[in-house]
Amino acid sequence: MSLIKYPVFTNGTKVIPQPNCCFIYSWQQKRFDIFSFESLIFLNEITGELSSDQIVDKVANNYPDIALETVKSDLFKLQEFMEKREYLAVNTNPVSNTDIFEYQDSINRVKVVSADIEITKNCNLRCKYCFDEAGKKFPELPLSEWVKILDSLYNKGLRFIKISGGEPFLYPEILELLEYAQEKFIVSLSTNGYFIDENIARRLSTMHLQAVQISLDSTTAKIHDSLRGTGSWEKASNALKLLSNMNVPIRISTTVTAKNCDNLADIRAFADELGAELSFEVLKKNGRASTMGSDYFITDTDKVKQYSSESSTHKILDELHMTCQSQLGSVGISYRGNIKPCNLTEDFFSHQRADVVVKIDDKLDYTKSSVLVNVNAASEKVIGLLNDGTIKSKDKCIFEY
Ligand SMILES: C[S@@+](CC[C@H](N)C(=O)[O-])C[C@H]1O[C@@H](n2cnc3c(N)ncnc32)[C@H](O)[C@@H]1O
Ligand code: SF4
Repeated sequence: MSLIKYPVFTNGTKVIPQPNCCFIYSWQQKRFDIFSFESLIFLNEITGELSSDQIVDKVANNYPDIALETVKSDLFKLQEFMEKREYLAVNTNPVSNTDIFEYQDSINRVKVVSADIEITKNCNLRCKYCFDEAGKKFPELPLSEWVKILDSLYNKGLRFIKISGGEPFLYPEILELLEYAQEKFIVSLSTNGYFIDENIARRLSTMHLQAVQISLDSTTAKIHDSLRGTGSWEKASNALKLLSNMNVPIRISTTVTAKNCDNLADIRAFADELGAELSFEVLKKNGRASTMGSDYFITDTDKVKQYSSESSTHKILDELHMTCQSQLGSVGISYRGNIKPCNLTEDFFSHQRADVVVKIDDKLDYTKSSVLVNVNAASEKVIGLLNDGTIKSKDKCIFEY
């Protein structure tokens, strides 16, 4: 006899609806995923009191032109994914759910929920393609300033942050900063792995980070080191092994160029062996990469999709035919603590400290920026974030090349 299943959200699961997608996150599991907007119809029906089959019937009513079996198979796949990610549990009896929806009131505008923080612009490496042109001796904010900024971002409703750089481990108090940040946010760290030794790995293993992301461009030193510097591959792969042995959640991030696109299957296998997530970033023509020859850039991204992990961010951007993270409610914060539309853009709103509410001055000289953009659209977004915690939705990334 088969038992009736009643899906119910696990403790601490929350959903943030956006105009074009929705975020689901679990504070307990320290993870988030991005689902399509249509998934909200399904999430709405998970009351704890309806069985899986009753939910299918209710959702199917919204899609009279689609066969019931198709709706059923799609929903069961989604339900399985949510169970795997521990957002959902299945009961054999009906129970009551707690309310999981946040910020329902601003459904028609993109809500800023995450920030990509460039904690330092300094770097020990000089990667040929670095969009950030990191490497020189740039000033850094003291920890007390970053704490103020983090508090302010939290109070504006942001829930997810990525600490990146430059190389974050050049920031002297990076471990203290991570320890503080993980108390408030779901945090991931993006590093070249060079400085991760046993001591640092142990400290990281005591934190509850979503992932430590390490850049690795191939499974052998040759290609990786030719782009990122001699000895960098060994350091990155050792760091991955060290963290994996200490059960720290890891993610490999591979910048895909024409030089490594035949190595993606091997990178996939290496990631699986380590139990790492995998994310592919196609080389973009920003920063130092703007002077690289066309023989480095790929045009066919099919292979990238074939070997990618089930990365919901990429999948959703793909579904929406977008490339812009800011459409998903993400902003960049520069090493000076200023808000930027995303981390690929320059720090040209030089007075827009993330923790201070300031209006953009129309007379500001934006021409100092070498980024050719529709600055008015970008400034609208920044004003929106500072004043009411939302940004206006745009169809296309204003920074797209
Ligand atoms: C700017 S780095 C900062 C974190 C750390 N220093 C590192 O390299 O992992 C963040 C990620 O951006 C990637 N990246 C740098 N320049 C890029 C470009 N032009 N196009 C695509 N990805 C790029 C890097 O490979 C790295 O995975
Ligand atoms: S990609 Fe990362 S490691 Fe390489 S120069 Fe840029 S910041 Fe440094």
